[in-house]
Amino acid sequence: MTGFAAVILAAGQGTRMKSSFPKVLHPVAGLPMILWSVQNARTLGADSIALVIGVGAEAVQQTVGDQVLYTVQQEQLGTGHATLQARELLQGRADSVLVLYGDMPTLRLETLQRLVQLHHERRPAVTLLSVLSDDSMGFGRVVRDPDGAVTAIVEEAVATPEILALKELNCGVYCFDADWLWRRLPDVPMTQPKGEYYLTDMVGLAVQDGLPVEVVTITDVTEVQGINNRVHLARAERIMRERIAESLMLDGVTLIDPATTYIEATVRVGRDTVIYPNTVLRGQTVVGEACELGPNSVIQDTTIGDNCRVFASVLEEATLENHVNIGPFGHLRPGAHLGEGVHMGNFGEVKNAYLAPGTKMGHFSYIGDARVGADANIAAGTVTCNFDGVRKHRTVIGEGAFIGSGTMLVAPVTVGKRAKIGAGSVVTRDVPDATLAYGVPARSQRKLEDEEESGG
Ligand code: UD1
Ligand code: CA
Repeated sequence: MTGFAAVILAAGQGTRMKSSFPKVLHPVAGLPMILWSVQNARTLGADSIALVIGVGAEAVQQTVGDQVLYTVQQEQLGTGHATLQARELLQGRADSVLVLYGDMPTLRLETLQRLVQLHHERRPAVTLLSVLSDDSMGFGRVVRDPDGAVTAIVEEAVATPEILALKELNCGVYCFDADWLWRRLPDVPMTQPKGEYYLTDMVGLAVQDGLPVEVVTITDVTEVQGINNRVHLARAERIMRERIAESLMLDGVTLIDPATTYIEATVRVGRDTVIYPNTVLRGQTVVGEACELGPNSVIQDTTIGDNCRVFASVLEEATLENHVNIGPFGHLRPGAHLGEGVHMGNFGEVKNAYLAPGTKMGHFSYIGDARVGADANIAAGTVTCNFDGVRKHRTVIGEGAFIGSGTMLVAPVTVGKRAKIGAGSVVTRDVPDATLAYGVPARSQRKLEDEEESGG
């Protein structure tokens, strides 16, 4: 295969979205929809990608970044005019040019692969993608002569009844011979009444030039329906979600009910993990093997090791080592890092804190801006009072420490290794290692050096 460039058309206003931001930035399965097209073009191996955006689409540039080249179509004068905006960027850069839309996230990579492959095998002036469908969806019709050769694409608005009856529709995705495209595109005539330049007229020009036109035909109309309004957006979301769920299941992940499991495209899940209903996995979440997630959990930008259990909990930007058990009703906030075997039970909250392996925190406690040593026991209702109204302060709890129920740890404060804090204490001063402290405010009472370690 020789080099090809891609043009992604995304200058349309998207008015039917009734949105204050560009249509192509609305996410589908967790990715701004434009990124699905960009990703496909990249995965196919496009040497350069030109994104045609509308005036004021800086937000699109910010989202997509420098993986593509940009050109601005000042006025929406049609798909032919939009494609022409990419000529300066792409001419001389590749043998062929793939044209696709930024609002068609459900188009499969495999379909584009077939299109590009056929084009490179046969080298016609243009290879177009068509779909067979009873519902015309307002698409242009593919017109063929009695021998089956394509002669034109006719837009619905100007079609005769015979042409309207045709079931083969133009999807708007093409692969062009680059030299021919850039030479002939300026010859596309203006079409009334809208005064637009139709890219579809390139097919007629190829026929005029006596050049072959090839077609790849698909039957799955959901691939090319495109998104114009929020109803379409929800439909695309469902299609992509089903695909993601299917691919995870085929890779060895159990989804008890795929219809109520929402997993974004960016998420990775290891085999033998079981995901229960009403579970949402978002962003850069990575889940290990043999975990149980949900029901009723939301997990975002979180890394989870193997054999973990998350039950009815909310996790954001957290890290779980192996064998961590959370819930029900746990909340991990950014920077929570739970070591191997940590258990965090009912109504616990952890933020910006490391809980070393084996620590138990069973009931309604808050640990923030803290470091807790291994095998510590945080009894019910323990609170790190980390905020003095102006600044945040750190709490350090040594390994094997026992923090009694209802303890307030007024940070900055350090509780030593194997220290014990009596229930209801307010700890305002550091407690040395292996020391028993209690009271309001808590005072060290005696050393515990010779005592055996007690359990929880
Ligand atoms: C186009 C095709 C039609 C095809 C349909 C499939 C033409 C003339 N018609 O129809 O045959 O069946 O797609 O969806 O090409 N865009 C720009 N600048 C413009 C106009 C459009 O960037 O000036 C972009 C839009 O953002 C959109 C894409 O091009 O992503 C298609 O535009 P749209 O108006 O939806 O095309 P249709 O006229 O519906
Ligand atoms: Ca359209």
